Amino acid sequence: MWVVGTLMEIVIRTDYGAISDEAFRIVEGEVARRPALVVGLATGRTPLGLYERWAASKRSFKRARFFNLDEFVGLGPEHAGSFHRTLRERLLAPLRVPPRNVFLLRGDVKDPDKAAAAYEKVLRAAGGIDLQILGVGRNGHIGFNEPGSSLGSRTRTKTLTDETRAAHAEAFGSMDRVPRFAITMGIGTILEARYVVLLASGEEKAQVVRRMIEGPVTAEVPGSALQLHPRATAVLDEAAASALARRDYWKWVAENKWRVGQ
Ligand code: GLP
Repeated sequence: MWVVGTLMEIVIRTDYGAISDEAFRIVEGEVARRPALVVGLATGRTPLGLYERWAASKRSFKRARFFNLDEFVGLGPEHAGSFHRTLRERLLAPLRVPPRNVFLLRGDVKDPDKAAAAYEKVLRAAGGIDLQILGVGRNGHIGFNEPGSSLGSRTRTKTLTDETRAAHAEAFGSMDRVPRFAITMGIGTILEARYVVLLASGEEKAQVVRRMIEGPVTAEVPGSALQLHPRATAVLDEAAASALARRDYWKWVAENKWRVGQ
């Protein structure tokens, strides 16, 4: 793996389809190297193109184990707005992942904090996440780690901001129906993944992508914590990359890295 300086590896592709292709190429490479890969899955709209390609894959993912990043408190796995259901329908069922290899956080538990602590234990017992797929919220959150979350946080419950609830309003019919709480892997948990691949698409993400990649590491932009990660790749489409000051540099680097050692 080729690492760019002290920052993330930045890969810029033309559009949403192209970043989904690129992310799937990464997934295939990782599972080819390690068939019993432990994967952390994000939900949200952004990774759906990746999951579509992945679900149609001919390769077997039967040995891989799957964890999810977050879930709304109160929602059972059948709820249409649950991340559980999205991941099952979009990816895990089509891939025929055996239930013993699926470890998804549930929102309908009596004691979410207890469930969060138990999740950390299961994750540790699985050997930790090898490949974590991430998106980023417009306010910089990763998982449901809202701005101000501790950079060392572990899986726990978080109170969602109105901004985040508004972003999910469509899926629930109205903002009032969007749960106020979520269980999410912490930033510390995410940083322990061996490889992190963050996807971002569209103009609406351009400012947060700039702050996350080129701004200071700060709990105000939880995604900026990835600057501390030794192996993280941001796969961006042109629109999401459009506010990066070093956009041309990143593109040149990606196209020319094969020259190293030539
Ligand atoms: C949600 C999820 C995140 C996701 C983010 C962005 O709040 N908890 O994991 O990355 O929203 O979502 P989208 O990809 O739809 O923009």
